[in-house]
Amino acid sequence: MKAGDIERGKAIFQTICATCHGFDGKLLDWGEEGRHAYVGTEAASLPDEVFNKILNSHPDVQMVNLRAFPVEDAAAVLARAATLPTECQRAGRQAVPRGKRRPSRVRLTHRTAR
Ligand code: HEC
Repeated sequence: MKAGDIERGKAIFQTICATCHGFDGKLLDWGEEGRHAYVGTEAASLPDEVFNKILNSHPDVQMVNLRAFPVEDAAAVLARAATLPTECQRAGRQAVPRGKRRPSRVRLTHRTAR
């Protein structure tokens, strides 16, 4: 499989993912202890996991998946996501390590109706 097409990924991210994650991926933050975990943080540190989320969604939350689209589109979104701000780098912080992350619990900075 070719590396993801960032421009294509950007278009898809802005059309679909940005609704919840924001155009820069920073609207949802599942980090803790002062450490941020945005889509960008996750894509930079755990690309395999993000690829899985893109294809299969995230358990127990209202998130879309891209299963209905060609797998190249998911790869493109991952490529784009890896260019989004991580904040950690700027603040000299590390992403929350895999074992230390709380089980997914939605902490929305804005809420959609449930
Ligand atoms: C309808 C709203 C919605 C849309 C659209 C959406 N997401 Fe999500 N996403 C969520 C929620 C809610 C979470 C859970 C956040 C939390 O754990 O606090 C989440 C979680 C994630 C996570 C990982 C969380 C983890 O803990 O590993 C990734 C990565 C992610 N989304 C990427 C994407 C991408 C890429 C797209 C576009 C294909 C997308 N999301 C579209 C709502 C959405």
